[in-house]
Amino acid sequence: MSQQDPLLPVVGAGLVVPVLDGPDRRYVNLDCAATAPALVSVAERVVAALPYYGSVHRGGGYPSLVTSMAYEAARAQIGDFVGARDDDVVVVTRHTTDALNLLAHAVAAVDGHVVLLDIEHHANLLPWRNGKHTCVPAAATWAQTRDRLADTLAARPTALLTIAGASNVTGEVIPLDDVVALARRFGARLAVDAAQLAPHRRIDMSEQGIDYVAFSGHKLYAPYGAGALVGRRDWLDAADPYLYGGGTVESVGDDDAVFAPAPQRHEGGTPNVLGAIALGAACDAVSELPEGAIARHDAALLARLADGLAPLGDRVRVHSIFTDLPDRVGIACLTIPAADPALIAAILSAEHAVGVRSGSFCAHPLVRRLVGPGGGLRVSVGLGSSTSDIDALLAGLVRALTSQPHRYHRVRGQWAPVADTRRAPGLGLLEPGAGASPCVAVV
Ligand SMILES: Cc1ncc(COP(=O)(O)O)c(C=O)c1O
Repeated sequence: MSQQDPLLPVVGAGLVVPVLDGPDRRYVNLDCAATAPALVSVAERVVAALPYYGSVHRGGGYPSLVTSMAYEAARAQIGDFVGARDDDVVVVTRHTTDALNLLAHAVAAVDGHVVLLDIEHHANLLPWRNGKHTCVPAAATWAQTRDRLADTLAARPTALLTIAGASNVTGEVIPLDDVVALARRFGARLAVDAAQLAPHRRIDMSEQGIDYVAFSGHKLYAPYGAGALVGRRDWLDAADPYLYGGGTVESVGDDDAVFAPAPQRHEGGTPNVLGAIALGAACDAVSELPEGAIARHDAALLARLADGLAPLGDRVRVHSIFTDLPDRVGIACLTIPAADPALIAAILSAEHAVGVRSGSFCAHPLVRRLVGPGGGLRVSVGLGSSTSDIDALLAGLVRALTSQPHRYHRVRGQWAPVADTRRAPGLGLLEPGAGASPCVAVV
């Protein structure tokens, strides 16, 4: 099997972290679906922009002009990245959650009915519960689920069908062509929660026929606090400002105001310019990779994981929502019938310097149904991941299942070593080396 090297350099690639026994070890980040490290090129773009940082849109000084230009250039890069149409709006948000809440606010303004599946991340589940919506239970196959969606859409006029492009729990990639066809057939618009899709697959809204896309910078190698909602203008212009304040208006009278069209209408307050610049840089860097490179990288690393897990037989299970969707972004959801996934995650971290995530991944209804109340163990790769990361995970997992040299207990609901000798770094927040169990103190 081919050796996979990182596709792009990320900040912190050489990070070493303390473990319970022996010298510090290279940190193995297999939690990229939660949040991804900054690309080196993104961090460099931010550092280059910082000296010119000034007040956006409203300042007269040279840095303000540069900052305003850079902010609008970033908006264009973000739109280009997802193939926005010329008349689409790019609203810079905080993250996907913010973007989907903004869209829900806009849909409420046009009094639209929304259809979604019950397998969504809470960010694409909870915002719709405040309005008129139907949440369709997913079936065991995508084909049956598609039929259920069609039945629901046929039953009443629907303004919006909203769906995650890739599951944050299992990595399964939803066939967007099917979903676009359904939305068109029943005259609904389509929103794609692309939090997990955008970092792994090319999106072309105009070519694919997607009406709205929401995604997060911090999952796209730009962890500087910006995300985006990209899509059709009319509903966004029909809605009241998402956040009232400076920047949203054309004029303000004593008792009334004329609000600006989107995107300014929904970008109240001083925008996160550096976040937008970082996100624009990440969009550029990811789209410059050869076509299909990320999908091949993901597939090779997931294949390595599957091969390594095979000898463990039914001691480790890998979960899927659908039996007929083989395509996956670089995410796998595991359970270990004999062990609590949260304890295994704690052991992998404390003894093997491997970071994964355990629990219900902000998708409680799906995870409860898929693996039960105990949750799962999620392994997720990114542009900085390599074969050696998967090998380190596999070695740690085998050790965790066969020998337990350390004792663990629950501290504030989380597993932690009883004798935690690891020290927290200073970072200007803590006394380096302070405390007997600093890592516990930090969380
Ligand atoms: C599919 C999906 N949607 C939405 C979100 C929410 O993203 P954020 O926390 O950046 O708003 C996540 C985060 O994990 C996600 O995986």
